[in-house]
Amino acid sequence: MTATTTDEVSFSPYDSAIIADPYPVFARLREEAPLYHNRELGFYAVSRHADVAAVLQDHETYSSAKGDILEIIQADIEVPSGVLIFEDPPLHPLHRRLLSRVFTPKRIASLEPQIREFCVRSLDPLVGSDGFDVIAEVGAQVPMRAIGLLLGIPEAEQEAVRDAVDNSLRTEGNQPMTMDQTLLDGEAFGAYVDWRAANPGDDVITQLLQAEFEDETGTVRHLTRDEIVLYVTVLGGAGNETTGRLIGWFTKLLADHPEQRAALAADRSLIPNALEEVLRLEPPGPFMCRSVTRDVEVHGTTIPQGSIMMAIMAAANRDPRRYADPDRFDVRRPDVQHLTFGGGIHFCLGNALARLEGRVVLEEMLDRFPTWTVDIDRARLASTSTVRGWETLPVRVR
Ligand code: HEM
Repeated sequence: MTATTTDEVSFSPYDSAIIADPYPVFARLREEAPLYHNRELGFYAVSRHADVAAVLQDHETYSSAKGDILEIIQADIEVPSGVLIFEDPPLHPLHRRLLSRVFTPKRIASLEPQIREFCVRSLDPLVGSDGFDVIAEVGAQVPMRAIGLLLGIPEAEQEAVRDAVDNSLRTEGNQPMTMDQTLLDGEAFGAYVDWRAANPGDDVITQLLQAEFEDETGTVRHLTRDEIVLYVTVLGGAGNETTGRLIGWFTKLLADHPEQRAALAADRSLIPNALEEVLRLEPPGPFMCRSVTRDVEVHGTTIPQGSIMMAIMAAANRDPRRYADPDRFDVRRPDVQHLTFGGGIHFCLGNALARLEGRVVLEEMLDRFPTWTVDIDRARLASTSTVRGWETLPVRVR
């Protein structure tokens, strides 16, 4: 089968009807246009599970060096070294290794008591109320606190830093991102890096300031201030809204499936699998892009070098070739592995933190509000260039 034209199936990431419910279009792409070409917006797209996984694994053909966001690749801007999400080998493993050294499973696991305490502090005052906006009260709070803890940003300053980073990724009214607001404008964190240089602590910024590493020229050196600012901007940008959207999606899906929520309340050991099912069905980041480094044939069509390839994880996660009854939400689903955290060398470095935050918030929600319902008329779904999910999600808890 060959790529279809935009006249047959049309997918634009800026179409608000598609953002509201992209799954019918994704199903058509999978079946009718396994290699889709949007000539107007200038990208190709794959949507079947095997194809999306193959693109993510093949970083030689599908490069991240120009970015992984459609508008950033199209703008063809120079991305500075150190933004590992926008790097290929040999630079990428260098920076990934360095960040992995400070982003250890032990450090992530050690955050659980403090993350739980945040949740308790946020949710306890809401007990006895009629309801609240889950995003405002926890979805926008917990991820910021977790990253703040990791980076050693003082609690009083965390909100301002989160807003600066989120705004750098935000677009209004589903419009394409403009280039004066890219991820690379990282000064939100600059002041904290300077402050930590003078006030070392037990945190990621201090460790990055102290770390020695061998750079691409073979020189053993410390990271520069600007490199550290970029590292932590990437962490803030990658870990805030994405995890907030996960919290919104499980709140919505479990309200829609009260019998499955009751099963989780009765047997907490089901929660990790339930979170994977939420991530599979409603990925906070539905797709990402790559630039094509050589002419490559996909489904019988040659994609020219220099093209943009979009990998639609949200479509792959519901591919009937891979999942039984793929649109069904089932917290006990055995075939729950998904592509929501990506794949290959860029597989999400923060996945353990996101899973930890999701589990703790869900446990604390179930403890206090086991029968929440969603006030859908007041809810607001939004989409930026990187995430799709609930921006406002009011729940009734009485
Ligand atoms: C990479 C998703 C939470 C840090 C990625 C990628 C995806 C992703 C799809 C791959 C991007 C690409 O291949 O171009 C998510 C989702 C999250 C989440 C859905 C929440 C549910 C987090 C958190 C952090 C984080 C909490 C850290 C605080 C990173 C970093 C990378 C990354 C540093 C770049 C890894 C690399 O390029 O080697 N994430 N993420 N993420 N994520 Fe996450």
